[in-house]
Amino acid sequence: MPYQRDFENLNKSFNHKHINHKIMKLPFSESYRIKMVETIKRSTRSERATWIKEANYNLFGLKSDHVFIDLLTDSGTGAMSDNQWSAMMQGDESYAGSRSYYNMENAIKEILGFDYFIPTHQGRAAENVLYSTIVKEGDILPGNSHFDTTKGHIEFRKAHAVDCTIDEAADTQLEIAFKGNVDIAKLEKVLKKYPKEKIPVVILTITNNTAGGQPVSMQNIREVSKLCSKYGVLLQMDAARFAENAYFIKTREEGFAEKSIKDIVKEMFSYVDIMTMSSKKDAIVNMGGFVAFKSEELWKRSQMFCILNEGFITYGGMSGRDMNALAEGLKEGTDFDYLETRIKQVEYLGQKLDEFSIPYQRPAGGHAIFVDAKKILTHVPKEEFIAQTLGIELYLEAGVRGVEVGALLADRDPVTKENRYPDLELLRLAIPRRTYTNNHMDVVAVALKNVYDKRESIKRGYQITYEAPIMRHFTIGLKPAE
Ligand code: F0G
Repeated sequence: MPYQRDFENLNKSFNHKHINHKIMKLPFSESYRIKMVETIKRSTRSERATWIKEANYNLFGLKSDHVFIDLLTDSGTGAMSDNQWSAMMQGDESYAGSRSYYNMENAIKEILGFDYFIPTHQGRAAENVLYSTIVKEGDILPGNSHFDTTKGHIEFRKAHAVDCTIDEAADTQLEIAFKGNVDIAKLEKVLKKYPKEKIPVVILTITNNTAGGQPVSMQNIREVSKLCSKYGVLLQMDAARFAENAYFIKTREEGFAEKSIKDIVKEMFSYVDIMTMSSKKDAIVNMGGFVAFKSEELWKRSQMFCILNEGFITYGGMSGRDMNALAEGLKEGTDFDYLETRIKQVEYLGQKLDEFSIPYQRPAGGHAIFVDAKKILTHVPKEEFIAQTLGIELYLEAGVRGVEVGALLADRDPVTKENRYPDLELLRLAIPRRTYTNNHMDVVAVALKNVYDKRESIKRGYQITYEAPIMRHFTIGLKPAE
């Protein structure tokens, strides 16, 4: 076919001589578009100075209208999808045997692999139901950087949380793939030291929030599980950010690149006996939680504490519509495209901070960037709360609200009543799911850069004027140190 050949030649010469371009890789973009918006308000520095003083220099004390970009938490602050909102409309508000309860049951069975569960109003309520059932005074609960409410529930019952996180987690500049891991040797030492009757559960927090939203590897989960079996102790997963953890396993751990998020999630949970869940994170709802069990017996024993504290066992602390949204959220939260969008936004903020050489817990975490305040405000004494000081400066600069993960949160030792000063003083910038754009991240990064540039002039921090006996950081009163 001479005509065909001529055409091909023409085509070749056209391509080579005249265009000669390379196909560009398409840039990354979000896997959703925006259907509803919410106005946020800018303010002036002098307004913010008044507001933070009125809030007793406690970032939790601010009115949300006085915050421009709110990175206080990623908990319950995400945007629900069209499918979640439609599921809400179909909520069944029956007191007992609600259809929505069974929707939630199906999602938990299918996605997480647990046969028994109790709905609770949020994650800490799940901890309350579980620990009311299994924890007694003097017990030991080892784990990787227990979350503050988890530790609160343990210490409130006069039991002890023993941190067995790997030491590498305390070096913010060290880049390792699974910085949230348990140190197996540390854990075994605890399991050897105490009789198993004193250890109701080992708690594995995924991702490890307090250490910087850092993931735990599948290898580590397997090793912890093996150790628990060896010593006859139950394994509980604090699974608030389990899907983000699965994303990191898929993208960082050898042998998982080809596996689906859903398969990885199933495997993660196959090694544990119990999970507590704050659904306000990876199930992308504004309120809700649950505790799930493999053991029918433990589930039955826990029901009493659900009825006492939460509500009847088929709604616990949740309304039918919220259970419906949660069931849908578990599906969406384990979708790879969604997770990639989410984690890449956190990474994006990290890259912006790199441009300004601002130190943070490396690599970027799953739900937040944890700025290393100790490395920035080197003149502020630890007794004057370094990370809190940085948080206040960032708020004053641009109305951006983060949260302190440092000595205020570490609280006092329950026995000696002395302040506990952790190795790290971090300012957490938690990113709500599907809520802000990368333009907002640019504002956060530049605001932080402006604070960073004047770091040498910040020499004093804050002192306490009021504190609660436990979990003081939520309601603390402060004033500039004198
Ligand atoms: N476990 C982890 C790892 C958490 O991060 C949280 C909450 C909880 C349990 C308790 O869940 O809030 O639903 O009662 N973390 C939020 C945060 C508050 O800002 O990190 P909850």
